[in-house]
Amino acid sequence: MKLFGRGKDAVPAGGGSTVIGRTGARRGKSLRRLVSAVLLLGILAAFTRPGRRATRILARRLDSRVECFTEPGSSTYARVFAPLFGHLYGSVAQDVARELTTRRRNRGGTIVDLGCGPGDLVVEIASRLKEARIVGLDLSPSMLLWAGRHATADGRVRFVVGDAAELPFNDASVDLVVSTLSMHHWEDPADAFAEIARVLRPNGVALIYDLGLLAYTPSEMAEIAEAAGLEPGDIVRERARGGLVASFFVRFKIEGFE
Ligand SMILES: C[S@@+](CC[C@H](N)C(=O)[O-])C[C@H]1O[C@@H](n2cnc3c(N)ncnc32)[C@H](O)[C@@H]1O
Repeated sequence: MKLFGRGKDAVPAGGGSTVIGRTGARRGKSLRRLVSAVLLLGILAAFTRPGRRATRILARRLDSRVECFTEPGSSTYARVFAPLFGHLYGSVAQDVARELTTRRRNRGGTIVDLGCGPGDLVVEIASRLKEARIVGLDLSPSMLLWAGRHATADGRVRFVVGDAAELPFNDASVDLVVSTLSMHHWEDPADAFAEIARVLRPNGVALIYDLGLLAYTPSEMAEIAEAAGLEPGDIVRERARGGLVASFFVRFKIEGFE
């Protein structure tokens, strides 16, 4: 009410209502301009190629600024952010279970989560596939302090410090590689994809999920595939499935090579 100077409270003695009325009208106009500018920017960002490109660059810059995988950032990630993605981990774990059981015709095998962070996805997968061995790998020892709480005494679920670009696994030894929200942090994605292709068994598969806004575009991924010694068609970009949170994600799928 006060904003537009129409309310009883807004009328000062001595006819000041006209002044307040004009100020209010000006504020209203500025607000409408601001809303229109935000809407216009939103439309440009969502529906034009340069707009989408600029938004992606901005999002990546912002993300690299908040990237903090040492203490206290890793504690904040483990306590505050990872729980927000609970639904995503549930649907990714379902995808993992489906892929693994169809390919192997049993619920065993070796699964590696690249950039596992505090280990929430590993826990989801371990609860669905009780016969599989699951290794969570991460560059950050401090993230792995959180993840380590979920390791099992029999070694079925374990965590190792390592780089996606230099995997500590033998050739053709892994049935399924999975990753969430980590790929855009990999300093050398081509080396990481070459390593993924190296460690996958012929019948294996890699499912790499990342936020659509931060993930590589199809042309960027084609260059990465080439630098990794793969064909552009070897890394297939798909929409992630599984509800509202998943709809903001894309997934890259790579089949194991003979
Ligand atoms: C945003 S967190 C995501 C953690 C977890 N995957 C999740 O979905 O909650 C990104 C993780 O990727 C890890 N990371 C970044 N670069 C990596 C690399 N080259 N190799 C392995 N892990 C890496 C970071 O240490 C961090 O724990």
